Amino acid sequence: TDYETILTEARGRVGWITLNRPEALNALNTQVMKDVVAAASAFDADDAIGAIVVTGSERAFAAGADIKEMESKTGGEMLMADHFGGWAQFAAVRTPVIAAVSGYALGGGCELAMMCDIILAADTAKFGQPEINLGVIPGMGGSQRLIRAVGYYKAAELILTGRMMDASEAERAGLVSRVVPAADLLAEAEKMAETIAAKSLPSLYAAKAVLDAAMETPMAEGLRLERHVFAALFDTADQKEGMAAFREKRSPDFENR
Ligand code: HXC
Repeated sequence: TDYETILTEARGRVGWITLNRPEALNALNTQVMKDVVAAASAFDADDAIGAIVVTGSERAFAAGADIKEMESKTGGEMLMADHFGGWAQFAAVRTPVIAAVSGYALGGGCELAMMCDIILAADTAKFGQPEINLGVIPGMGGSQRLIRAVGYYKAAELILTGRMMDASEAERAGLVSRVVPAADLLAEAEKMAETIAAKSLPSLYAAKAVLDAAMETPMAEGLRLERHVFAALFDTADQKEGMAAFREKRSPDFENR
């Protein structure tokens, strides 16, 4: 399938989505949202794909929502168009998603990274929620997800000042999973994605579901969910295979991968 604003590729069991609007530092307009959601949903529906990587260019993962597209809209138009509602569909993908971030991840770009499960950053990455400089606030989940990632005081400082933080500060703050040299970013992302994609899909879906739940449920409810999802996996052939392989001191040959 051809997309207007992204490049896609399936390599082994890994689905790649590369944002491709270099003229606008990969600003997220409506078409980008449609393309990314469609590509991620297609990979998600494909059992031959066990992990997805979303990446941008060396200079920018994404410099935010497209300011030029939004500028003249009224509040009513923004609400009616549900301009960014589609991103919720991206966040709901069951397949693990790695954001491989080089350069700017600002505003909606930072928020897109935070919709992914793992944020792998090049040492050149810069994160921020600069919306306050435009007279608005984060609108794609930033106010909620950033707090959960880095805590209230760090999130409040970033959102109220609009300043950027570099990759090492972002890693220390807990926004970034791991920092790698920029030249190694895609190779490291591929290695990580292949490692994940080699696992049993039902267990990956289950792990992602309970991780997601931890973001929004009280502890006791999350623990109850974990107990049931954990037990449910014992009805999969892959659990039997995984544990037999351990006992027999060999690698598992999962049916669902
Ligand atoms: C539209 C953008 C853009 C954006 C960059 N461009 N960011 N276009 N929307 N978010 C365009 C520029 O206009 C320019 O186009 C080209 O990309 C290159 O950018 P430059 O500014 O010339 O590059 P540079 O000087 O290197 O500065 C890089 C930058 C800066 C620091 C990242 O571009 C910047 O501050 N961008 C905006 C960042 C931002 O405010 N993001 C939050 C957006 S609001 P031309 O045609 O002039 O060459 C948001 C809300 C999300 O994300 C929630 C939605 C509801």
